[in-house]
Amino acid sequence: MTVLLSDQRPVLTAEDIVGIRQAVRQRAVELGFNLVDQTKIVTAASELARNTVQYGGGGHVVIEGVEEFGRRGLRLTFADEGPGIADLDLAMKDGYTTGGGLGLGLSGARRLSNDFHIESAPGKGTRITITRWR
Ligand SMILES: Nc1ncnc2c1ncn2[C@@H]1O[C@H](COP(=O)(O)OP(=O)(O)OP(=O)(O)O)[C@@H](O)[C@H]1O
Ligand SMILES: [Mg+2]
Repeated sequence: MTVLLSDQRPVLTAEDIVGIRQAVRQRAVELGFNLVDQTKIVTAASELARNTVQYGGGGHVVIEGVEEFGRRGLRLTFADEGPGIADLDLAMKDGYTTGGGLGLGLSGARRLSNDFHIESAPGKGTRITITRWR
């Protein structure tokens, strides 16, 4: 895996989320993603950013253009040092929420990505990496 470009941003406020959506869209366009794939990765980014702010107490995201086996993709890593998630299988289920949401953010982000990796434990924060390939 080669990293073509890398950009780190804070994920603390609603304005940060707007900026992340715009940056992810721009990177996706630069990588040649079609409109549907642009929207998929922007939507996934938006959900993970909202969770980072709402549940993780804020954190950061690393936005990377990557290349592997001759294909290009966009990799996003959201990290926070919040309370973490005790039961990952439960949290990934459609409809599970502890915050009065729809409980579709994590599961939706997984469906909208090609690769999805989550690491989280109580007291250790949460780190989620997604990749969408062109
Ligand atoms: N970064 C995080 N830190 C701690 N807990 C998290 C984090 N992200 C998600 N969770 C937990 O996982 C649950 C499910 O997240 P998900 O995004 O699927 O649903 P939601 O945010 O509750 O609702 P929705 O995103 O549909 O508005 C959350 O309610 C929360 O308990
Ligand atoms: Mg959510």
